[in-house]
Amino acid sequence: MGRLIIFLSLLVCASIVHSKVAERHEIRKFPEGFLFGTATASYQVEGAWNLDGKTENIWDHLTHTKPCKILDCSNGDIADDSYHQYKRDVEMMRELGLDYYRFSLSWARILPTGFPDQINQAGVDYYNNLINEMLKYNIEPMITLYHWDLPQKLQTLGGWANPNIVDWFGDFAKISYELFGDRVKYWITINEPYQICNNGYGDGSKAPLLEYSGIADYMCAKNLLMAHARAYHIYDKEYRTEDGEIFIAFSAQWYEPESEEHEEAARDLNQFMWAQYVHPIFSKTGDFPPIMKERVAEKSREQGFARSRLVEFTPEEIEYVRGTSDVFGLNHYSTLLSYRNESLNSRFAVPSLNDDVGAATYQLSEWKIGESEKVMTVPWGFYKLLTQIREDYDNPPVYITENGFATYGGLDDDHRVEYYRGYLSAMLDAMDEGSDIRAYTAWSLLDNFEWRYGYTERFGLYEVDYESPERTRTPRKSAYVYKELVRTRALDLHYEPDMSKPLTIDEGH
Ligand code: NOJ
Repeated sequence: MGRLIIFLSLLVCASIVHSKVAERHEIRKFPEGFLFGTATASYQVEGAWNLDGKTENIWDHLTHTKPCKILDCSNGDIADDSYHQYKRDVEMMRELGLDYYRFSLSWARILPTGFPDQINQAGVDYYNNLINEMLKYNIEPMITLYHWDLPQKLQTLGGWANPNIVDWFGDFAKISYELFGDRVKYWITINEPYQICNNGYGDGSKAPLLEYSGIADYMCAKNLLMAHARAYHIYDKEYRTEDGEIFIAFSAQWYEPESEEHEEAARDLNQFMWAQYVHPIFSKTGDFPPIMKERVAEKSREQGFARSRLVEFTPEEIEYVRGTSDVFGLNHYSTLLSYRNESLNSRFAVPSLNDDVGAATYQLSEWKIGESEKVMTVPWGFYKLLTQIREDYDNPPVYITENGFATYGGLDDDHRVEYYRGYLSAMLDAMDEGSDIRAYTAWSLLDNFEWRYGYTERFGLYEVDYESPERTRTPRKSAYVYKELVRTRALDLHYEPDMSKPLTIDEGH
């Protein structure tokens, strides 16, 4: 009965947001200067895992030593072969008319030892070729320095749990600015801290598959924030260009209370799951969120630890990290309902981040619009998240650095189109109310290696044929729709593309 009431009230909530959209004209314009792009990441698309001097990274290591930790036992050895097919990738960016393309650098391709003692020229050439090809057609490169593929050699030294990573990452960042900074104006230091630390070192669901939740994930969190800040300061002091921007890309889903009595549970989840990384950088006071600090310190004491498991920042470190992001990079996909009850206490391992939060989540099957269980479609959650960011952090400029939907193949991806339309409408609603959102990035340009889901989940505007040696790319319906959005700088909820015509490059691109 309770769940039915929740469902009905959420339906009302969803239909209010929906009707708000419907009431307005169906074509909504984006403001002048708003930018559109798409994104990928090195391990997910490049392939060439051991070519031309590249060494092993943590995803090579995971997929080669424990292949069936990946749903289809696959790996990124060849992936989309973007290492060889990058010109076709740029052609696709031109077909879509993109303003920018977000991609990441493979640390082990540029620095085979992980350290700056050797620079792999072939790896540098690859990124130079990609950047120059994009710039030829006025597509701005947006580089992510770290999108999860740590050199395995650095992992053997502890990876993100070792405080020395602040130096290691700073060195890699400096070399990257030195090599590419003359042509690249958008720099993202790190992609999705939560996934790196809490999946990689906490719940063991991503490389390096460590399961020390409540301890190693918190060690990683502080080191990662310090490493990000190091990369920011190096850029800010030594490499900043007039229009250069450097920022971090957080992953934040929206945690909605199941009902009024569960508001604290949702608040705690929003604090632990994403404000953990946002608060130290974007709040006025810096440091981890107060609720998190208090909760983990108290639980640590009760559990017999000598100090809080949440590693503390010194006052100097708080200042070093605070304010180190020119814009708020936001990756967002979905929403979860949150609740707290007594029986949860016995459900979580102790210690663990989940036990520290003390709240659990679920999603409604009604939110599922396609086959994918992974991305449930809840546009109003995006609107609420954007509103909270505006209110809590003094309306920072926001770049949506990822948003997208998974299908299982096929070119007629109507569910993806529906997802994009819903989320773009919600984003425009937030902008109408004052949110300073300046860019939107669709994940992804093309299908790619979806981490633990291998090639089963497809996120591409372009389909990739993994049977063909050149990994043939074909535009889906969503690519046609995205192109129209970029061309008109407007969201038309009823645009129907003619897919019998090829997606060609418009004049001027
Ligand atoms: C977030 C990650 O940054 C990206 O690598 C991943 O493929 C997408 N979300 C989809 O899960």
